Amino acid sequence: MFLTNGIVQLLDIRKSSLLDLKSEIISGLTGRGVIRTMPSLLLWDDEGLENFYSWAKSPDYYPSQREMEILRTQGLDIVRKLPKRLVLIELGCGSLTKTVSILENLEKEGHEVSYFALDVSEEALRQNLGAMSERFKSCGKISISGFIGTYEDCVEWLTTSANLPVSTVTFLWVGNSIANLSKTEASALMSRFREACCKISIDCSFLVTADCCTAEDRLVKAYDPDVSSARTFLYHGLHHANRLMGENIFEANHWKCIMKYEQKENELLFSYVAKQDVEVDVHQLHVTVKKGEEIHYFLSGKWSQAQMRVIAENAGFEVRKTWTDAQNEYC
Ligand SMILES: C[S@@+](CC[C@H](N)C(=O)[O-])C[C@H]1O[C@@H](n2cnc3c(N)ncnc32)[C@H](O)[C@@H]1O
Repeated sequence: MFLTNGIVQLLDIRKSSLLDLKSEIISGLTGRGVIRTMPSLLLWDDEGLENFYSWAKSPDYYPSQREMEILRTQGLDIVRKLPKRLVLIELGCGSLTKTVSILENLEKEGHEVSYFALDVSEEALRQNLGAMSERFKSCGKISISGFIGTYEDCVEWLTTSANLPVSTVTFLWVGNSIANLSKTEASALMSRFREACCKISIDCSFLVTADCCTAEDRLVKAYDPDVSSARTFLYHGLHHANRLMGENIFEANHWKCIMKYEQKENELLFSYVAKQDVEVDVHQLHVTVKKGEEIHYFLSGKWSQAQMRVIAENAGFEVRKTWTDAQNEYC
């Protein structure tokens, strides 16, 4: 289905329905005897994305600052590594702030670009793509469209429907979004994109950013779940789950959000912890979550360059070049 906001074409490639997210909430709550989980996709509806950018503006939230520094100081060198005729598919485009900087450099270097933005947040796509399209409308060499859907929907679209005018595609995956997956999931997803491209006989590459900060004091300051803007973002999963299920299955004041830093893996793990025994009734299911029990729901990897290399290699890619900020916190 093509949707248009008058300026930009949005293609709805969603195959997974909201029902899937509901059943993920239910199956995650039962824990299947191992560990209880909530789908982290609950954080990323339109409201969640707004919460994220309020948090990202706070002075302690270093990742956006470091990433913009790399784009500001080395952006031209980065785009010079990309093909002159380029299909650029951005995975989880969000506010497009970094994208604008990348497209400006591509424009300066005279690249011909078909840019596709993918996100689950429809509102963000409508608002931000419209503004970006205005910015580049006189350029003539940059076309802009959007996909509403998940990463998996995009793999499916590539395999079944894509008709791309080039022999190679570049996937842009910034904002350390790769590290919201586990390392195994990240490799598996990149591998699925590679296989999808292979099926339609095109090559592919990834331009990925990763937060490799391991200074614990920096991490704790940036991600403290008790600080207001982080808190609003991190608790949103509970509100979104209630809205989806059509009933108040999670009372926010029964839950505390906690963060743990797994030093060995370089990962921040976020969970909701029951402040008391909590009875959750959802549809036919009754679940008792004991006081102190955790529901895991969000991961933010702080993977080193070496760890990123292994993730890429496990997906069938090799790292060609790495750019870092002055403090080596981001690459
Ligand atoms: C950490 S934010 C980064 C946004 C943007 N790339 C940036 O750097 O500012 C993650 C983005 O990915 C989107 N997202 C998360 N999971 C997704 C999924 N499974 N499929 C598609 N988009 C997803 C979110 O809606 C959000 O816009």
